[in-house]
Amino acid sequence: NRPKVYVTRRVPEIGLQILSPHCEISQWQSDDPVARHELLKNVSGKDALFCLLTDKIDKEVLEQAGPSLRVIGTMSVGYEHIDLEECKRRNISVGFTPDVLTNATAELTVALLLATSRRLKEGIQAVADGSWGTWKPSWLCGSGLDGSTVGIVGLGRIGLAVAKRLSPFGVSKFLYYGRTEKETAKDIGAEFVSFDSLLEKSDFVLGCCSLTEDNKELFNKTAFQKMKKTAVFINTSRGGLVNQTDLYAALSTGQIAAAGLDVTSPEPLPIDNPLLTLHNCVILPHIGSATEKARSAMSEVTAKNILSFLKGQDMPSKLI
Ligand code: GLV
Ligand code: GLV
Repeated sequence: NRPKVYVTRRVPEIGLQILSPHCEISQWQSDDPVARHELLKNVSGKDALFCLLTDKIDKEVLEQAGPSLRVIGTMSVGYEHIDLEECKRRNISVGFTPDVLTNATAELTVALLLATSRRLKEGIQAVADGSWGTWKPSWLCGSGLDGSTVGIVGLGRIGLAVAKRLSPFGVSKFLYYGRTEKETAKDIGAEFVSFDSLLEKSDFVLGCCSLTEDNKELFNKTAFQKMKKTAVFINTSRGGLVNQTDLYAALSTGQIAAAGLDVTSPEPLPIDNPLLTLHNCVILPHIGSATEKARSAMSEVTAKNILSFLKGQDMPSKLI
C-alpha cells in the first residue's frame, strides 16, 4: 500500500518524478491555486501534502486531512501560511526549501536596488511614451549604489547573499538588525545596530527577514519617518512586514525617495491600489525565486523532504 500524497498545484516535473515510484499521487492540475473547498476535499485521508505558499494550511485543513497526514512539504522557504503549532500538536512534520532559492532571491533583491536607485521605471516609461526629449544633465539622476550604506533587516541566508552581491557595486558600509547577532556578519564586515539606528543611517533599507507575529508591519509610519529623505526601501520577504498605507504616505510626500517591493499584502495587489500610481515605487509579482533552476530545485527538495520522511529518514530541509 503506497502512501498517498496530495500535490496542490502543477509543479516542476522533478518533484513528481521523485515521488511517483513510491507514492500514489493526486494533484491539482492547474497553474492556479487550488480552491479552498477542493483542498479540503482532496487532503482527506492523505499521508503527505505537497503545498505552496498560496495554500493556507490551518487547523481546518489538518482536521479535514485526518490522522493519516504525517508530513507536509511546502515548496517555499517562507512558512507563515502553515499553522506550525497545530502541526506540532498533531505530530505532523514539516519540510521547506531554504538554500536552493537563496541566490535567485538575492539576485532579484539587487535588481530592485538598481531599478529604484537608478530610476529604471521612469526611464522605461519615458522611452515608451515619447516623453524622452533629449539627453539632459540632471534628468533621471538617482542615487546609485556606489558609496552607499545598506541596512539589512534579517541577516539570514538571503540577507547575507544580498550583501555579498552588493559589495562589488561599491557599497561602503553594511548595517544589520535582527533578533540575534550573526557570526556570518564578519564575512561582509556588517555592523549589528538597533532598528532605529539602521533606519537613520541607511541609504537602502532591506527587508530580508521572515514574517513573524512580532514583526508584522515593522515598517510603518514611525519607521519611515526615521529614514533619510533620500532612502530607498526594499522588501523581498513578505508583504506583511509593511504598513502599505504608511508606505504610500512616505513615498508620496517625499519622506523617503523610493521603494522596491517583490511582495505585497495582499497578492496580487488590487490594481486600484495607490502604490501602483507612484513613479518611485517598483512593484514585482513575487518573483524572487523565479529562475528555472531555483524553482526546479524547490520542487526537488519538497519531494525529497516528503519521501525521506515517509521512508523514516531525516528530511534534507526539516522545519519541524
Ligand atoms: C517565497 O516567497 C518562498 O517563501 O519560497
Ligand atoms: C554619456 O553617455 C557620456 O558620454 O558621458
